[in-house]
Amino acid sequence: MNVLLIGSGGREHALAWKLRQSPLLAHLTIAPGNPGTAQLGRNVPVAVDDVPALVALARHSQIDLVVVGPEVALAAGIADALAAVGIACFGPTQAAARIETSKAWSKTLMQQAGVPTGPFQVFADVAAAHAWVEREGWEQWRVVKYDGLAAGKGVIVAQSADEVHAAIDMLGKDGGNLLLEQPLEGEEISLLALCDGERAALLLPAQDHKRLLDGDHGPNTGGMGAYAPHPRCGPALLADLHRRVFVPTLQALRDAGTPFVGVLYAGVMLTADGPQVLEFNARWGDPETQALLPLLQSDLLGLMHRCTQGRLDPTMVRWQPGAACCVVLAAADYPAAPRRGDAIAPWEHTPNVTIFHAGTALVNGALVTAGGRILNVVGRGADMRQARTRAYAAAAAIDFPGKQMRTDIGARAIDPRMHTDGHR
Ligand code: GLY
Repeated sequence: MNVLLIGSGGREHALAWKLRQSPLLAHLTIAPGNPGTAQLGRNVPVAVDDVPALVALARHSQIDLVVVGPEVALAAGIADALAAVGIACFGPTQAAARIETSKAWSKTLMQQAGVPTGPFQVFADVAAAHAWVEREGWEQWRVVKYDGLAAGKGVIVAQSADEVHAAIDMLGKDGGNLLLEQPLEGEEISLLALCDGERAALLLPAQDHKRLLDGDHGPNTGGMGAYAPHPRCGPALLADLHRRVFVPTLQALRDAGTPFVGVLYAGVMLTADGPQVLEFNARWGDPETQALLPLLQSDLLGLMHRCTQGRLDPTMVRWQPGAACCVVLAAADYPAAPRRGDAIAPWEHTPNVTIFHAGTALVNGALVTAGGRILNVVGRGADMRQARTRAYAAAAAIDFPGKQMRTDIGARAIDPRMHTDGHR
């Protein structure tokens, strides 16, 4: 099978690495890819939201299956355009991707489908949102969200009345709907599922670490690390989440005439009153994918292909025992203004560790920083303690000026008393 993979981050390098292991794979093309994916297939410099050029590339390269990484490609309608020319796509249509691209649509769908989720209000203008907060009290309504895609900057959890009002002004400054939500307390997990429009096969529960600094301090980032499996989301809770979240959501999407094919990713808060869905994404998580795929025993390409044919068999998703821990190495001054062009020293291969590129570039044959998150160092082990030890030993040995990393990725899996972010 010839596969086109869309994207250029650590998630896409992990997908390319896993696809390369498939006996079903003939040629792998990546658009635009990064220096890591270039070692696994052919990188072609086409932008992830240039739908006509991506379709032309797929046709020209006789692609059998397109795998979509970033949400911008889904929002631009890549799956619809591929369907129009008869090319299979692992990723939802533009209409089904609204579960990520419109938070208001998504929350309404959850409410109608009976999926557990917190209270919310949608506002078409900032004045109405300010008035709601004045009347109802800021403490109860201090989670402010922009309705559309915002490159990870669309959610503010305010800590005072002034911050709530400032967040409303900031997220509403360019127009578009705003949401106000009530904060939820607990531990947040990422639950991803392969979906074929009807069935969902849940992947191992994972946990992201969104803040820049240890202890969940500092600014929000695209994700500073992840681990899987989450030790406090066992088989009973997973079965419950499958029944109460994924089954009704897929049914609601089918009822809306927009069956969902691809990865449906639920951000779930485990609260004292039970799990609550914070939001859905319509794609693989980053960096969760980098922690999950090294543990997946099954052939990913076969599974994704079955999804596009409506033939997913969830019993075919098998895992290696043990755990994986992904530590992100970020550039100097990330996330505010990541510095580019710092030389990355060559590193030695370490057993049980896989390094996925993200924001790297080759300049005159030398690897340099070229983005915010630079490399993902993934350690595997018999348990989380061993996976972390391996990841951190390898991460410490990689050198570039201004390297930033958290030192507590996966620590909560070993000691639940470690601080948790706890509010969304
Ligand atoms: N890990 C967060 C995301 O992929 O959106």
